[in-house]
Amino acid sequence: MYLFDSQLSLDQIRNTMPVLQINGITKKYGRITAVNDLHLTINKGEIFGLLGPNGSGKTTTLGIVLGLIKANSGSYNWFDGSSNNNQNTKIGTILETPNFYPYMTAIENLELIAHIKKAGRENIEPTLELVDLIHRKNSRFHTYSLGMKQRLALAGALIGNPEFLILDEPTNGLDPQGISEVREIIQKIAHSGTTILMASHILDEVEKVCSHVAIIKKGKLLATGEVGSILSDQIQVELISDNNGKLLDLLDNRYEISGLNKSGEKIVFNIDANFSSGELNKLAFENGITISHLLTKKTSLEQEFLEITKNK
Ligand SMILES: Nc1ncnc2c1ncn2[C@@H]1O[C@H](COP(=O)(O)OP(=O)(O)OP(=O)(O)O)[C@@H](O)[C@H]1O
Ligand SMILES: [Mg+2]
Repeated sequence: MYLFDSQLSLDQIRNTMPVLQINGITKKYGRITAVNDLHLTINKGEIFGLLGPNGSGKTTTLGIVLGLIKANSGSYNWFDGSSNNNQNTKIGTILETPNFYPYMTAIENLELIAHIKKAGRENIEPTLELVDLIHRKNSRFHTYSLGMKQRLALAGALIGNPEFLILDEPTNGLDPQGISEVREIIQKIAHSGTTILMASHILDEVEKVCSHVAIIKKGKLLATGEVGSILSDQIQVELISDNNGKLLDLLDNRYEISGLNKSGEKIVFNIDANFSSGELNKLAFENGITISHLLTKKTSLEQEFLEITKNK
């Protein structure tokens, strides 16, 4: 059976088997520290977003784990613990705009890639199907639109059925339609069991596509975890009551509460986006608690991202 015939749920695929471990990697270019003591673990089945503003060290990190750039210190391990590049047939990548031959058709270009990768040709057509180019398989590459070229690049990276796919800003330069097509394909690839590491500077993209995220700035890791736990649409609540402890216990039973902070009488926490302050008032009243101060503020993902990367 061909890999893409099966579309599994990500939960079926995911386990906590590390596929790539990055252990304290540092890379300096003269006085610039591009990657600064970076630790990351990527497990099987994850769509892992490396999110950071321009110049934060994303491409450098990808280049290092692909063995294209030498780190100053630290190490990384692929799959079974090896850090050599014998594993490379298991890794598919689009790091730069790929070199396709303009006057060769999509099929011919992919056949050439299959030959170079010593992979069978039987996967070429299903891969073109997956990236939605089967109807243009006999068109020459130079007749393709930018979005089609990018999708062919994805197909090229998938030849040889890699277990791990590395993508650097896969939607760069595409129009909204092209962006959404590429994002959909990335998710389909993940559902066929391939682990994906993708760099992006676009928060919205990581939120829409990725299961996990690491936020970096100036080469430093600022936060990592499941997308929902790091970046979540939440409401920030600030309150003072005559029994904060009891009120929090009551709330905790009904909602997910995080980021609890106390300063004197005042407590601040984040709560589910579907929470309403009316419910809070009712809950307090029913339990004999008096609220003397209540402020709610919606924290957007954008704000949260800016907050995390601010002054760091
Ligand atoms: N070959 C190089 N020589 C000197 N400095 C470099 C080199 N490559 C990268 N850098 C510097 O390292 C830092 C990280 O660059 P990198 O390309 O990894 O960032 P990035 O997160 O991929 O950025 P972008 O979002 O713009 O692609 C930047 O300050 C960059 O100028
Ligand atoms: Mg980059």
